[in-house]
Amino acid sequence: MDAPLVTLTPPSSFWSPRKIVVGAGASGQLAAEAKSLGARRVLIVADRRLAECGLLDRFVRLFADAGVHAAEFCDVQPDPTIDNVMQGLAALRRLDGDLLVGLGGGSPMDAAKAIAVLAANEPPLAQYAGYDQVPRPGAPLILVPTTAGTGSEATRVTVITDEERSVKMMMLDKSFMATTAIVDYELSLSMPPSLTAHVGIDTMTHGLEAFVSRKANPWADLYAVSCLRLTARHLDTAYREPDNREARAGMMLAATHGGLAFSNSSVALVHGMSRPIGANFHVPHGLSNAVLLPEVTRYSLSGAAARYAEAARILGVAGPGNDEAAGHALLSYLDEQNRRLGVGRLRDVVGVTQGEFMGKCEEMADAALASGSPQNNPRVPTQAEIVELYRRAW
Ligand SMILES: NC(=O)c1ccc[n+]([C@@H]2O[C@H](COP(=O)([O-])OP(=O)(O)OC[C@H]3O[C@@H](n4cnc5c(N)ncnc54)[C@H](O)[C@@H]3O)[C@@H](O)[C@H]2O)c1
Ligand SMILES: [Fe+2]
Repeated sequence: MDAPLVTLTPPSSFWSPRKIVVGAGASGQLAAEAKSLGARRVLIVADRRLAECGLLDRFVRLFADAGVHAAEFCDVQPDPTIDNVMQGLAALRRLDGDLLVGLGGGSPMDAAKAIAVLAANEPPLAQYAGYDQVPRPGAPLILVPTTAGTGSEATRVTVITDEERSVKMMMLDKSFMATTAIVDYELSLSMPPSLTAHVGIDTMTHGLEAFVSRKANPWADLYAVSCLRLTARHLDTAYREPDNREARAGMMLAATHGGLAFSNSSVALVHGMSRPIGANFHVPHGLSNAVLLPEVTRYSLSGAAARYAEAARILGVAGPGNDEAAGHALLSYLDEQNRRLGVGRLRDVVGVTQGEFMGKCEEMADAALASGSPQNNPRVPTQAEIVELYRRAW
């Protein structure tokens, strides 16, 4: 890609964690990092599965060896809820904790972000939904991803489900940014192939949506390009060969770069349409993105033909010149990727009949538009067009 003419672009800013530690075994530095932030009583937020596999105990011991008291809170479900966050906040208060660790996939990391913010800002959490709504900085926060992944360790975003309203609330604020991110691909080696595929397509979607977004900017572009390149090179191998360390390392870096990209640009229509599917039908986040990605890209192509063509070239599926051909090559790539990684159609993942699903579509389209993400898409859809896209992805 040609270097952007920075002086000609409108002002943009770049947010990231204060420190990012990356590499094999990096999570061994967790207690030392917490100590360097002055922590004395730490709450580790994780989920049941990570507790059962012994990972959590390993970190609690690490803290004990460093002379820091650590307690665990594991009641975080996939797509964390306001209830999960409030229970975590109560655990933090009981502990009188002064630092949060979010350990796991996007769900525990997002829950830890929300708990950290509520440690210094009054509930209810829902008042902080949307953009830049948090008045005060939260408690110090270290995030350690075990999936590759949401990139949440490097974003200003948290996504928490309000079960009463069946809404996945998207919240973006500097207070949801980690103080420190520790990115250790060895923690992702245990992911089974289907999880690798789903979270990996989430990563790729972050890179692609950040790159074509109306909020794209030169800094975010750097990370979006890296995210796409790394995903194209490593996702298939990580899926087929779970023990391939190079592929795992590549995908972990892709995920963090994807987070830096979209948190400083934006996600767009795929994520906007995906969240209501998660909220209503409990489809894993990466999978609901994956089933939408080809159709939404087909619809969006004309809004940013040159950018999509460039993305196809970065992914290695198109040559220079002829943007239209490159756009078509991108669509074929996304279709084939879903086939290779065992991703079906929308009808295969929602667990309800077409009639039931379609009955919800107008409401889901409204929720998608209310999140603000579709408005960042290169082609901005109407409510009716979103409903039609759900129908096409079925
Ligand atoms: N904040 C952000 O910037 C951001 C970005 C994208 C997605 N999200 C949110 O993140 C959530 C999804 O996160 P996710 O896709 O990482 O999944 P997840 O955290 O919900 O985890 C899914 C499952 O994978 C298991 N798991 C985690 N690591 C594992 C490992 N190394 N080996 C085996 N199993 C493992 C978990 O225990 C869980 O059962 C959604 O709520 C989504 O909305 C947030
Ligand atoms: Fe995502």
